Amino acid sequence: MQRLALLKRLPLLVVVGLSLSLALQGKALAQQGPQLTSVAQSKLLTDPMDAAWQKVPAADVPLTPQAGVKPALMATSVSSVKVRSVNDGASIAFLLEWQDGSEDRYASRPESFRDAAAIQFPTTGELPAICMGVRGQMVNIWHWKADWQTDIDKGFQDVPDAYPNFYKDAYPAVNVLTGTPPFRMPKDFESPEAKQFMVGWTVGNALSEPVRTSPIEDLNAIGFSTATHKAKQNVNGKGVWKDGVWRVVYTRALKVDDVDAAALTAGQEVPVAFAVWNGSNQEVGARKQTSTFLNVTVQAAGGAAALQLSPALLGGLILLLIVAGIIAFRMVEGRSRQTS
Ligand code: HEM
Repeated sequence: MQRLALLKRLPLLVVVGLSLSLALQGKALAQQGPQLTSVAQSKLLTDPMDAAWQKVPAADVPLTPQAGVKPALMATSVSSVKVRSVNDGASIAFLLEWQDGSEDRYASRPESFRDAAAIQFPTTGELPAICMGVRGQMVNIWHWKADWQTDIDKGFQDVPDAYPNFYKDAYPAVNVLTGTPPFRMPKDFESPEAKQFMVGWTVGNALSEPVRTSPIEDLNAIGFSTATHKAKQNVNGKGVWKDGVWRVVYTRALKVDDVDAAALTAGQEVPVAFAVWNGSNQEVGARKQTSTFLNVTVQAAGGAAALQLSPALLGGLILLLIVAGIIAFRMVEGRSRQTS
C-alpha cells in the first residue's frame, strides 16, 4: 500500500523538483548578469552594418561612470553597450553598439573630443583589476577611436582640415615644386628631409601616424596611466555612425604570436570588459563609462553553446536523482522481499 502511494506521488515529485531547480536556475542566471557567447559560424562578420549581426545573440552590458580617478566622470552619458560576437575558428569579431546622438569624429582642435570605445582582456590566467590591470596583471585593450576611423574613411585629418584658413606658403625641406601650400601630411612630407619636421611621425608615435591601416589601437596596461601602444598591432575593425547609434566591429585572429595579447581560444571562457567615451561630453582618457568584467564563451566550431548549468540547476537535478533512486531502491527491495 505504502509503495503504491509513493509511486503515485513520483510524477508530482519530478515536477516539483524540476520547477524548483529551474526557478533557482532563472534566479542564478539573472544574478550572473549579461551572458556573451562568441557564436561559431562559417562567415566572420566584419562589416558593422551587416544585417547578419541581428541573428547573433546580444548581451546588454550596463555601464557606470569612472568616478574614482580624476579627471572623473560623475554621470554616464552612455548607459549601456550592446555586444555581439562571432568566430570562424580562425578569427573572432566583436560588434559594439551604443546610443550617441552626435557623431564626434575629430580631436584635432584642443576643444574637440572624439567618440571612442574599448574592449579589455586579461593577458594572464588571473582576473585582473578592472581599472586597466595592475603590475603583474597586464591587460590587453583594443581602443577604437572615431578620429582614426575618419583618417581611414576620409584620409589623414591634418591641420588644414581643422583650420580651413590655415595657410603656409613654404615649409623647411618641403619640395615646393611638388607640394601644394599649405602642404599636407603625408604626401608633401615624405622626403626624409621634410619628414624630420614631423617629429611624432618620425619617431613612430602612433597618434601622429598619417597612414592608418586600422582605426583600433592595440594597447597594454598595468594599471591606469600606463596605457602603452603595443609593438605588435593585431586588431582591425570598422566603425559606422547611423541614426544616433555607433556600431563598431573589432576583429583579430584567435591565435596570435604575441605574449602581450589576449589569449582567445575556441571552447573557452574569457573575461572581458568595455569602456565608452562620448566626445560631445568632453570624455577622453579617464573620463569615460566602463563595465565590470563578464565572461565571453568562445564557441568552438560545431560546438553547440554549452548548456549553462548553474549550481542551482545542478543541485536540483542531483536532488531529483537521489529521490528517484531511493524510490527505485525501495521498490526493488520490496519486490525481492515478496518473491523470497
Ligand atoms: C574603472 C576603472 C578605470 C580607471 C580608474 C581608469 C583610469 C584611466 C586613466 C587615468 C587614463 C588616462 C591615462 C592613461 O592613458 O593610462 C585612462 C585611459 C584609458 N583607459 Fe582607463 N580606467 C579604468 C578602466 C578602463 C577600462 C575597463 C578600459 C577598457 C575597457 C579602459 C581603457 C582605457 C583606454 C583605452 C585609455 C586611453 C584613452 C585615450 O587615449 O583617450 N580603462 N584610464
